Amino acid sequence: MSRQTQAIIHADAIIHNFKLLQASAPHSRSMAVIKADAYGHGAVNVARLLRDICQRFAVAIIEEAIALREAGITAPIVVLEGPHQQRECALAKASDCIMVAHHQSQLDWLMALPEGQRPHIWLKVDSGMHRLGFAIDEVEPILTSYQALVTSETVLVTHLACADDLENPFTQQQLDAFAALKNRIDLPVSIANSPATLAWPQSQANWNRLGVAVFGSGPDVPERAQLKPAMTLRSSVMAVRTITPGEYVGYGQNWQAQRTSKIATVAIGYADGYPRHCPNGTPVAINGQIAPLAGRVSMDMITVDVTDIGEVRPGDRVELWGEQVNIDTVAHHAGTIGYELMTRVSQRVPRIVRHR
Ligand SMILES: Cc1ncc(COP(=O)(O)O)c(C=O)c1O
Repeated sequence: MSRQTQAIIHADAIIHNFKLLQASAPHSRSMAVIKADAYGHGAVNVARLLRDICQRFAVAIIEEAIALREAGITAPIVVLEGPHQQRECALAKASDCIMVAHHQSQLDWLMALPEGQRPHIWLKVDSGMHRLGFAIDEVEPILTSYQALVTSETVLVTHLACADDLENPFTQQQLDAFAALKNRIDLPVSIANSPATLAWPQSQANWNRLGVAVFGSGPDVPERAQLKPAMTLRSSVMAVRTITPGEYVGYGQNWQAQRTSKIATVAIGYADGYPRHCPNGTPVAINGQIAPLAGRVSMDMITVDVTDIGEVRPGDRVELWGEQVNIDTVAHHAGTIGYELMTRVSQRVPRIVRHR
């Protein structure tokens, strides 16, 4: 019998979330960001699911775009990091990809190609995040020098550093800095990621780039309640034992029974992507009831204190995150964010796309 550890990918949730985000930005066009294997949900799966409602996808690197092309995805793809090497420029044209250019050397590589063999570009502007892009005062000279690269598809793109922090005034500062530039340049723009689309409507522009909210996670705004989790990470109980007060569970003995306790061992561990940083008390759902993690996360197993949730037997169904346990709650316990948990579900875990 095979292990029952699986990531169920909810097709209806992905479609619902994308449509909800589109509806919340009726004056923008929305593209799904499906880098990092669509945040662990399977990029080809997700591109196929969204094929009829999403006219464009974004990935981080050209290899991700080529994998989509090989799977028959034909919509234009924006490569958010642009070319890492000169040879990627011709590859981008051949694969109908739009390259984000954030650095002058990339523009030089593109110019070195014969006209007609150059891919379209988006120009990345650093409006304050200081990760990638041209400084605001560099943009106009760059556009003049590289006019030959500007096409009907060219978009000015920037990224917000703090959009998920609703109280942080820096988002408005970035928006103001970018708006001043935009007023001087007649090109379409792209600013908002998912948290910005939901929480900062003034950031919605020609193109919104939607990642994590398509998969059911987002900032603390009313629309968030309508997002549906796109992944259920589930497993099953392998063993159940009763231990006496004072006995310990797991590596390093970091959980000690204060009473006679029933411990369920579940077939998932950090090698599957369940975070090793999850401490005692992290919620796990067994047979639909919440029980606390007890003991350190091992490579292939976790242990859960099921003393208070009635009868638990080997083979019983366990949800690590999904509808019963919010992925962001688990992430909070692990000291990280839902993005990291989604993207770290390992290849050992089969993705099962479920349509209902
Ligand atoms: C440049 C860029 N745009 C858009 C996104 C999508 O962001 P989110 O997942 O928060 O919607 C990302 C994700 O990291 C990104 O790096």
